[in-house]
Amino acid sequence: MMRERLRTAILISGRGSNMGALIEAARRPDYPAEIALVLSNDPAASGLEAAKAAGIAVAAVDHRIHAHREDFERSMDRLLEIHRIQFLCLAGFMRLLTPWFVARWHGRLINIHPALLPAYKGLRTHERALADGVKIHGCTVHYVVPAVDDGPIVAQAAVPVLDGDTPQTLGRRVLTQEHRIYPLALRLIASGAAVMADGVVRIAAADQEGSRALIQPLDS
Ligand code: GAR
Repeated sequence: MMRERLRTAILISGRGSNMGALIEAARRPDYPAEIALVLSNDPAASGLEAAKAAGIAVAAVDHRIHAHREDFERSMDRLLEIHRIQFLCLAGFMRLLTPWFVARWHGRLINIHPALLPAYKGLRTHERALADGVKIHGCTVHYVVPAVDDGPIVAQAAVPVLDGDTPQTLGRRVLTQEHRIYPLALRLIASGAAVMADGVVRIAAADQEGSRALIQPLDS
């Protein structure tokens, strides 16, 4: 018997292409998570329209009308409770989260970052990778911990850096891989195949073969 699908909310700030990939994956009846809510800190985020068009419940909690970061997060938290959300995916959510919120959602909160962590935390990752001349770049899905762009890694994809790449061309190829590994990571967690313990995520052997948490450069 299939277990209950994990009621998941996606938090966005912008266009939400990763959100779109997660919504698409969760359309499959055998996908172990359902996207029950898309929530943005920006009422004008274009991803909200896309989510609505896909038939998903949407909400916005405008961070600008809250005096303190924690008030903003408490408002979000109430909404998440109303929608009986069990798990959160940050997808281009550009607000730093307080230790209070991160602790509250500990083990139930993941993020996607456009670099191979622990390299290139922070912003402008493609530009910085090109400036350093690295030959392999990529993206990471990880559990969120209080330190920014840190935390146990669930899935990564490597992307080769090509001659003549610009931040835009490299970023586009990385984004294509983001759209693959985010649905993969959520599936591994929601199905119970990925388990976090002692700061490391282990993937059940049966799932390593079929899904490959690490996508080799030649695939890209
Ligand atoms: C993605 O590339 C994601 O990895 C990045 O923002 C983009 C959002 O795009 N996230 C971060 O930089 C988080 N620090 P999307 O809205 O099309 O999914």
